[in-house]
Amino acid sequence: MLNQLTIAMPDDWHLHLRNGEVLEKVLPYTSRHFQRAIVMPNLQPPVITHQDALNYKKEICAAIPAEHSFEPLMVLYLTEQTSPADVKQGFLAGDVIAVKLYPAGATTNSDAGVKDLEKIYPVLEVMQEIGMPFLVHGEVVDKEVDIFDREAVFIDQKLIPIRAKFPSLKIVFEHITTREGVQYVQSCTENTAATITTHHLVINRNAMLVGGIQPHYYCLPVAKRELHRLALRAAATSGDQRFFLGTDSAPHLTQFKQSACGCAGIFNVANTLAILAQVFEQEQNLENLEKFTSLNGPKFYNLPVNSQSMTLTRSDQPQPLPADVATTQGEIKVFDPIMPVHWQVSATNI
Ligand code: DOR
Ligand code: ZN
Repeated sequence: MLNQLTIAMPDDWHLHLRNGEVLEKVLPYTSRHFQRAIVMPNLQPPVITHQDALNYKKEICAAIPAEHSFEPLMVLYLTEQTSPADVKQGFLAGDVIAVKLYPAGATTNSDAGVKDLEKIYPVLEVMQEIGMPFLVHGEVVDKEVDIFDREAVFIDQKLIPIRAKFPSLKIVFEHITTREGVQYVQSCTENTAATITTHHLVINRNAMLVGGIQPHYYCLPVAKRELHRLALRAAATSGDQRFFLGTDSAPHLTQFKQSACGCAGIFNVANTLAILAQVFEQEQNLENLEKFTSLNGPKFYNLPVNSQSMTLTRSDQPQPLPADVATTQGEIKVFDPIMPVHWQVSATNI
């Protein structure tokens, strides 16, 4: 059995860092294991303009520990008022890497998102022209649609028409959670890709609903039934360049998760690489781990692969779960994968 593995330093193509104290507390967990990360813009207020992105990037950079070299990749939050010229300027200046679609009401801080997709067509037109990736939270928000079907319905009702209207637009279908999501991406050319989270490779909806409501396993899109988890695992471990890691690590204070209306989001970045190594070992595909964490994403985004590296080591004994993150307002719970994890990051050369 393989006990040690060295891979190019990973990147996280979908991450929530927040701001203020939470940013300061969670960022080091990312910057010690990831060279770059796409930072989601769903703050309150959201990161909407080129200038907003510059301001947020400055705040993030000020919180990077001196011993880490980390690059935040900034994303704009798409609204129906977003200016195509501002988006283009941010991209061409190298300050903004992509634009994110939140259907209004789909998830945390999505109220300022998009209700009518036709209103954003002028922005998509410009993005297609300049090669700027369009990142999609792919769930419909109609009350009549069952929450477990929202991703599959989004593909048929929204994604297929957008793809047909903008055939050369680079699209990332974010945090896919279904077999339909996997199959859709597989049916496309390489200008459509998908991120897959760590937790959706590990848990199905039972983790959230069996033995009482388990708020620390609630995220959006919600984990689905087992057949979907298996489809995601097959896609992630296949080496297919259209699938890459987006942790969707989304910190919330425990008191806001353990409440009558608990927040969606799982903080998984503290143990993501160890868990992924365990998953790829289980799938007998450890040789494809590097593609998922470090090679496929840069290829899609036309960025160089990181020259730094990371070594993961396997022990006979399972590793303890990392400690929760303390803040002055309360703690942030680390994702418990509910399985023994024998791997750990033993070295990085950042
Ligand atoms: O679970 C989630 N948490 N899904 C999202 O789409 C947003 C995220 C957050 O910001 O907390
Ligand atoms: Zn997210």
